[in-house]
Amino acid sequence: MSAPVMSSGIVAVAYIVAALLFVLSLAGLSKHETAKTGNTYGMVGMAVALVATIWVVFQNPGYAPGWQAALVFLPMIVGGAIGVWRALRVEMTGMPQLIAMLHSFVGLAAVLVGYNTWLLAENLAAAGTGHDAVHLTEVFLGVFIGAVTLTGSIVAYLKLSARIPSKPLMLPARHVMNLFALLVSAGLLVWFVLTGGAVPLLLMTAVALAFGWHLVASIGGGDMPVVVSMLNSYSGWAAAAAGFMLGNDLLIVTGALVGSSGAYLSYIMCQAMNRSFVSVIAGGFGSGAIAASDDTDYGEHRETTAVDVADLLKDAGTVVITPGYGMAVAQAQYPVADLTHKLRERGIEVRFGIHPVAGRLPGHMNVLLAEAKVPYDIVLEMDEINEDFPSTDVVLVIGANDTVNPAAAEDPTSPIAGMPVLEVWNAKDVIVFKRSMAAGYAGVQNPLFFRDNSSMLFGDAKERVEDIIKAL
Ligand code: TAP
Repeated sequence: MSAPVMSSGIVAVAYIVAALLFVLSLAGLSKHETAKTGNTYGMVGMAVALVATIWVVFQNPGYAPGWQAALVFLPMIVGGAIGVWRALRVEMTGMPQLIAMLHSFVGLAAVLVGYNTWLLAENLAAAGTGHDAVHLTEVFLGVFIGAVTLTGSIVAYLKLSARIPSKPLMLPARHVMNLFALLVSAGLLVWFVLTGGAVPLLLMTAVALAFGWHLVASIGGGDMPVVVSMLNSYSGWAAAAAGFMLGNDLLIVTGALVGSSGAYLSYIMCQAMNRSFVSVIAGGFGSGAIAASDDTDYGEHRETTAVDVADLLKDAGTVVITPGYGMAVAQAQYPVADLTHKLRERGIEVRFGIHPVAGRLPGHMNVLLAEAKVPYDIVLEMDEINEDFPSTDVVLVIGANDTVNPAAAEDPTSPIAGMPVLEVWNAKDVIVFKRSMAAGYAGVQNPLFFRDNSSMLFGDAKERVEDIIKAL
């Protein structure tokens, strides 16, 4: 067997091994118990893929060895160093925006790969080989998906990091504009495939950048979870498109895995939030009919103290804790785990109710609770716990707001109307941990705070939970 054939055989095997490891990784990530192993499979798969890809580059006779090393290792060292620096500094609460930013890089990479591939195709055309319609279509679609992912992810980053308001941008005729952008892009695709020229490609890039920006800007705060998983999916398709353009099978497989799992996650999120998938990805279709109910007067709220909550807990038989984004902000998961342990030692049944979109990332609360070593078997999903609230003595709502808002179930004019929520108000007593009466991420007031069986425990969630532990 000749050396190049053997070497391409080794690379093919390495790619298959890496692809299998990615599949195992996704399977592992689907359950708490196997999530760590899943991560390890993913990391090993990525290491195998990297080594194999670098190997391929070094087999390319087109570059002098010194140049190859500089082109491969210099960007890797610079990019890797920036990545390690960001990963070490990022707070858990900053993860969603970091992920959105990373998605935008995948989009940018697909755009750059697209233009690069087009320039190569231009050189071939200049040499008289003509344009390859399939290749030009790949370039066009790759750049389109990449550009939409790029600006969409930047807007998601700005919204998630609260640099711009999370309110939906309601431009008049926004759906017509979206449809127009798609139709114009389809026309430009035909023009591009027929001529291979720069003008349709540049025009489409401008349209796709504006389209991506508008698509995410017009989605409201409450629907952002779907956007996060949707952009995750887009970044996968952008990577797959780059794989087609570069002729790299592993990139195609990996991109398709990320794209399809992200699409499925978006679908699950939509089901969890009782939203139509199509309407969310079309930019909050139908949300124009809904009015925010911020001005409603819900009456007076009651305040309580850590000592009173400790007394209430001492007498309780069943307690449910429903954490939300505020627990992540306060980093209260460790004292919450401690409180859980202390209550269980007293023979009190303690369980957790996790809303599918609590926090700012899919599985955000589960990660935090696992970090604090809360046993998995007492952490239940919304559907598993909702029926048990009427027989629960005390619910501790720790930094959650939208995910426990009864308006979602009771007020059809609410922006979160129809979203299933944790029905904590059915319990005997509800204690809400937060710092003020401010609204949640969706920007709507929460009538739960004004119910007769609710009391507010104001202050930082971590400090308040620690106060309760002391008082116990
Ligand atoms: P939110 O509705 O975001 O409310 C969190 C609450 O925590 C706030 O009302 C805030 O009130 C309180 N808080 C903040 N810092 C605190 C601290 N240090 N101590 C105590 N309380 C604190 O939370 P949620 O119920 O988890 O709902 C999640 C929302 O985010 C949903 O609207 C969801 O659609 C959206 N979202 C979710 C995701 C994913 S994938 N999960 C992604 C994007 C958006 P104060 O300021 O008064 O303290």
